[in-house]
Parts: sequence; structure tokens; C-alpha cells
Amino acid sequence: MNDSARPSEVNAFQQVAPYYDTLMQGIPYIWWFHYVEALMDKLGRKADTVLDLCCGTGNLTQLFAINGYQSTGIDVSEPMIERAKQKALETDLPIYYEAQDASQFELDRRFDLVVSLFDSLNNLTDPDALENCFRQVKAHLNPEGTFIFDLNTEYAFTQKMFDQKDRKPSSPIRYLWTSRYDKKSRLCQITMNFWVTEDGEEKQFVEIHQQRAYSETEVQGMLQRAGFTRCQTFNAYTLKPPTRRSDRVFYAAY
Ligand SMILES: C[S@@+](CC[C@H](N)C(=O)[O-])C[C@H]1O[C@@H](n2cnc3c(N)ncnc32)[C@H](O)[C@@H]1O
Repeated sequence: MNDSARPSEVNAFQQVAPYYDTLMQGIPYIWWFHYVEALMDKLGRKADTVLDLCCGTGNLTQLFAINGYQSTGIDVSEPMIERAKQKALETDLPIYYEAQDASQFELDRRFDLVVSLFDSLNNLTDPDALENCFRQVKAHLNPEGTFIFDLNTEYAFTQKMFDQKDRKPSSPIRYLWTSRYDKKSRLCQITMNFWVTEDGEEKQFVEIHQQRAYSETEVQGMLQRAGFTRCQTFNAYTLKPPTRRSDRVFYAAY
């Protein structure tokens, strides 16, 4: 990875891992699962085996498993994967998890479907890394396999959608996030301040995340070079094409 694309202070998804599920309590993962199935239906694609790329703590990976898919998850963050493994043990779900980087992962199996949701791939800020990721996905798909992922758009970054806060004393984890988007590099740096109270003491930690905006044309080119021949895009959570004001775009490539 190009060093200038990823500042040394980036420490994403490490300290926050134990609190991730609390932060995500309102996230409609079940709805996202049904949306992926709706996209597959629309495209006339079928899947029994799924790889959740950048699976985090496995919230979507688990839903695939519960719904009868043979489910695998990988994520670069060891603490996120550890949490995912622990949850699979607790729920007795047969999911295979491994800590791996999406841009160079290697698994000994192929899949009917690879998904990567919640703008995870925007975290691959080096375009070469993203294209390598697409190549690895292609290499891990069965011949009739499908790749579905979403990306935040540049519009989302200019709208400062990462600037969020919850400082309510009653919240189990409080946070203040501020973002800075640089149009030239197309990098958005998000400084995430968190506060948690444990054993009566308040603890603070900071994570710096970085995401890159990729245009649809750029992504389609990368997918093509990685060997995908068809790609359709959708305004997030709809079956309609994206617009100039889409803050999230879904890609379905095969
Ligand atoms: C916003 S979280 C989404 C997690 C999960 N997809 C979900 O919907 O809850 C982004 C995830 O991408 C992972 N990630 C970032 N860069 C990655 C990389 N290069 N390879 C694999 N995972 C990565 C992070 O560790 C984090 O768990």
C-alpha cells in the first residue's frame, strides 16, 4: 500500500471493537440482509455459500448463517474478528472467521456470493489495494458467483455525514466524530472521540479513520480489469439507479 494514502495515525477498528455492537444497536442488519436477497432476485442470481468481506463483528455474517447459507467472514481487525468468533460460539453458528486484509486475502474455498457492506471498502484508500481486492474476490467466486458491495460517495463526504455525536450521560458509549474531506486527494479523515464509563470511571479513547471517495466510473473500470464482465449500480436500499445525490451506492458485479 502506498504510504502517503494511509497516515501512520490511522488506528481504525481496534479500541472500538468491544463497543461496536452497542454502537450498532440501531442498525437494521436484517433489512440489509433482505436487500441483498432482493438484489440477487432482481439479477436472477443464486447463492448457498457467502463470504462477508470486512465482516466486522459478524452481524450480517450471522444473519446469512441463520438463514441457511454456509457463511464465512474475514476482517483485517483482530479484535473485531475475535468478537465475531466469540458470538458464533455463543450462538452455536457454524461460521468460519479469519483475520485477513481484504486487498490480499487467500482462502481455501470459493463462494457463490461475496458481500461487503457498510462502506467497508471505502477504508481501502489506495486505489491499487481496492483493485487487488476486486481481483481476490473474483478469484474466490464460483463461475456463477456474484459480488455485492456498497460505497459511500463523494457527495456523502461533502455532506459531512460522519459528523455525529451522542454525548447523553445515559448512553453506554458517548462519542463525538468530526470529519475533514480533501477534494484533491478524495480522502476523508474522521476523528472519532469516544467516552465509556467502566467501574465508575470514565475512559476516553480516539480512533482516526480514513475513507476514500471512488467515482462509479473508477470502480467500474477496476471491476472490469479484475475480470468482472457485468456490473449494475443502485441507489442504496432501492432497486433504482443512483443519482447525483446518492450518499451510498450499491454495486452488483459478476
Ligand atoms: C464500518 S465497519 C463494517 C463492518 C461490517 N461490514 C458491518 O456491517 O458491521 C468496517 C469494517 O471494515 C474493516 N476493514 C477496514 N479495512 C479493511 C481491510 N483492508 N481488510 C479487511 N477489513 C477491513 C474494519 O476492520 C471494520 O470491521
